[in-house]
Amino acid sequence: MKRTKIKDLLASQPAGQSVKAEGWVRTFRNNQFISINDGSTIQNLQAVVELNSIDESLLRRINTGACLAVEGELIASMGKGQAVEVKVKELTILGDCDAEAFPLQLKNRPSLEYLREIAHLRARTNTFGAVMRVRHAMAFGIHKFFNDRGFVYIHTPIITGSDAEGAGAMFRVTTLDENNPQRDEQGHINHKEDFFGKETNLTVSGQLEGETYALALSEIYTFGPTFRAENSNTTRHLAEFWMIEPEMAFYDIHDNMQLATDLLQYLVKYALDNCKEDLEFLNKRSYDEEATKPQDQRSELGLLDRLKFVTENDFQRLSYTEAIDILKNSNPNKKKKFQYLIDEWGVDLQSEHERYLVEKHFKKPVILYNYPKGIKAFYMRQNEDDKTVAAMDVLFPGIGEIIGGSQREERYDRLLNRVQELSLPEKDLWWYLELRKFGSAPHSGFGLGFERLILFVTGMTNIRDVIPFPRFPGNAEF
Ligand code: 4AD
Ligand code: MG
Repeated sequence: MKRTKIKDLLASQPAGQSVKAEGWVRTFRNNQFISINDGSTIQNLQAVVELNSIDESLLRRINTGACLAVEGELIASMGKGQAVEVKVKELTILGDCDAEAFPLQLKNRPSLEYLREIAHLRARTNTFGAVMRVRHAMAFGIHKFFNDRGFVYIHTPIITGSDAEGAGAMFRVTTLDENNPQRDEQGHINHKEDFFGKETNLTVSGQLEGETYALALSEIYTFGPTFRAENSNTTRHLAEFWMIEPEMAFYDIHDNMQLATDLLQYLVKYALDNCKEDLEFLNKRSYDEEATKPQDQRSELGLLDRLKFVTENDFQRLSYTEAIDILKNSNPNKKKKFQYLIDEWGVDLQSEHERYLVEKHFKKPVILYNYPKGIKAFYMRQNEDDKTVAAMDVLFPGIGEIIGGSQREERYDRLLNRVQELSLPEKDLWWYLELRKFGSAPHSGFGLGFERLILFVTGMTNIRDVIPFPRFPGNAEF
């Protein structure tokens, strides 16, 4: 008999029809009621074994975590909590599970910290099932959003010879013998002998390669893994994370901000429309978690309210200069409550400042633009004031920066100047510079951190819990 997914069984009219379900045991009560989950939905299927109809030795093997196949009749349920159930005719144990050794018992609800240590099993919990289904829906929604607008999905390389952000923090890729690498006359490691004949690393961003395709296909996006070797042990940083990077010819910074707003509002609405059950579960979960915090640290809105809030409110746009004025005169700055005090124009904003603007001052998502050029990447378009660049960051409640982007410097001389000013390796950027020689065009783009989006949409509080196998300093298990 063919298996039906539990999600579909739960949506069927119960008419005593024969069905088969397969999945993992969540609980087994009274030697009679088995609740089974197959990950197709957060809901479990109740399978009812009639007393004495099944061999005692088989019953003893129905432990939490075991994998089962049940066949029987789909009938209306007499019990509370479910509309239908399966009256079991045949039961097969597909995989036993040692109850003593299995770490996911309902009795002792495991902490998220502990679950990270058993990331191979945490997918079997309601929380991780819900988070990963939402994650999937968001990935799908992203492709739908861009496809509907005629953007072309470009696969930019994972291994690159350029450093998009101009910052250190990259993972090297090499096949040289680590104990005995070839060296040149000066004793430096000779990358001419390396696999690619040059130094290479894992990409920190697909942007620069993405720009080449935007300047041919007009509107493109990348969506792939990116890697940062910074030693950031925070709840918002991963060493391996996924990024969505649209890049558009003929867009200025304002068009860019509008696209970022449209994308985020679309995705949050997509989640509300398509992940109802999972979001209701996560809403309750995050409510319970909030309740364990002291009153003054609780978030004012519940998860679902926060999501609706984003779809219903425009994002506040203001310049970096205006933001610095607000922050300078803010209470936490005057009372020296900020860890990093804002004293002068030109300083980089920390997450505490971003969150103050969003959560306390404006109480809505914020887009900051026109940052000092000194704290932003070389490729951003220089403004006429000679001090700022056409950068933009989108800031979200609870998250801080969720998107970073800019209008790009499309003027060859200006870009070359900046590359030289910052002593960037001109020889590695020759192709990027050439784009400005051969039919340059105004263009813009941004990067949306996929896991930061998932954090926001699921209400989870640690980025390590919204990616299947997190990579962070000191951890590459699994
Ligand atoms: O601001 P970032 O570094 O921008 C870029 O990489 C640009 N090249 C993007 C572009 O214009 N095409 O990163 C973009 C976003 C951030 O706003 C943040 O959401 C996320 O990527 N991000 C991280 N997410 C998780 N872990 C990290 N270590 C992250 N670093 C950045
Ligand atoms: Mg940034």
